[in-house]
Amino acid sequence: MAVPVYACICAAVTTSQVEATILAGARTVSDIGERCFAGTGCGNCVDRLEELIEQSEPSSESVEKLPQSA
Ligand code: FES
Repeated sequence: MAVPVYACICAAVTTSQVEATILAGARTVSDIGERCFAGTGCGNCVDRLEELIEQSEPSSESVEKLPQSA
């Protein structure tokens, strides 16, 4: 059984839960806090939450490779 990796200890929210929240539309740390309470306590996890948001964004290089629509 996999051991959960907590992104936010205060709210007991795992990295997987934060990633799911981002996939569901959260785009800022505030969005994440409103949806799953991560980042709403001591604030020590805010940098990690920002990293998870950045990792979820497509790189500019991959966006450039998308086909252009008419
Ligand atoms: S560890 Fe996330 S708010 Fe404290």
